[in-house]
Amino acid sequence: MQQYFISSAGVKIPKLIYGTAWKEDKTADLVELALAKGFRGIDTACQPRHYKEPLVGEGIQRAYAKGLKREDLFLQTKFTSISGQDPDDIPYDQDKTLSEQILESFTVSKINLKTDYLDSLILHSPMANWDETLVAWQTLERLVETGEVKQIGVSNCYDPNLLSKLYQHAKIKPALLQNRFYRDTNYDSELRKFCDENNIFYQCFWTLRANVHILKSKAIAKLVESKGKTDAQIFFRCLNHQNIHPIIGTTSSKHMEEDLDIFSFSLSDEECELIKKSGPY
Ligand SMILES: NC(=O)c1ccc[n+]([C@@H]2O[C@H](COP(=O)([O-])OP(=O)(O)OC[C@H]3O[C@@H](n4cnc5c(N)ncnc54)[C@H](OP(=O)(O)O)[C@@H]3O)[C@@H](O)[C@H]2O)c1
Repeated sequence: MQQYFISSAGVKIPKLIYGTAWKEDKTADLVELALAKGFRGIDTACQPRHYKEPLVGEGIQRAYAKGLKREDLFLQTKFTSISGQDPDDIPYDQDKTLSEQILESFTVSKINLKTDYLDSLILHSPMANWDETLVAWQTLERLVETGEVKQIGVSNCYDPNLLSKLYQHAKIKPALLQNRFYRDTNYDSELRKFCDENNIFYQCFWTLRANVHILKSKAIAKLVESKGKTDAQIFFRCLNHQNIHPIIGTTSSKHMEEDLDIFSFSLSDEECELIKKSGPY
């Protein structure tokens, strides 16, 4: 049901992972359901404005009670800087240094998720300037060195020069980039090339919402008919074939099943190339 990618840090990342944003009080039930259906990766954030991280932890606990093992789960969360937090609900002391904020946020995440290590910890976005981004990165590196985090990455980084600079300065290289997949950034084509060349896992969101024109394209319509799959299944399968790994945030049990089924069929390079042209991406 799942396929995995071995990251530069040696972490087994499921190619489809379940996203937990905006699930509010349904978070625990949906996480439990996603794990029961076969998802083995969870994406969340220490950002109460959009993610109920304690309820993610509760959903995972329920899955453990049914037999899931921690070592079979890929657990990813994010450090969100003050600018991305609700000012009335910041999950760490904003008067502390940036480095201390990150360590405190990490501690809160471990408590919320009831784990003593994370498979992946990512910066929700680069900081406001390079110096702060480097401080933040070096703090994440320390957590890898203590063994509490297996790999580190970055999200919402749309500047290829910045990712390249971070890669050059990093003692521990970014293993993952999580970005919005949409037309306005030319679908990160330059960044994705850099990721492919440097073994960085490219993970995307907004995949369906921002790409209705691709879902409704002739290239996909033809494959929907010949393969007997939905437009979302064809698109997700094609993206995975091209090293683009969507995060799935569905609230529907049927969509969870359909999405996990995408590895039961294949698409040729030529078929994927036609879909790519309808982006174009
Ligand atoms: N790093 C960041 O800044 C950032 C930002 C946004 C999101 N994320 C992460 O990415 C995850 C996904 O967010 P997203 O914005 O891409 O959208 P999403 O939350 O996955 O929403 C997908 C939308 O498409 C619909 N849908 C229809 N068919 C579907 C199918 N077969 N599979 C899945 N959805 C289907 C869903 O409706 P149904 O519910 O009815 O299926 C839903 O309305 C989030 O939960 C979060 O973990 C990260």
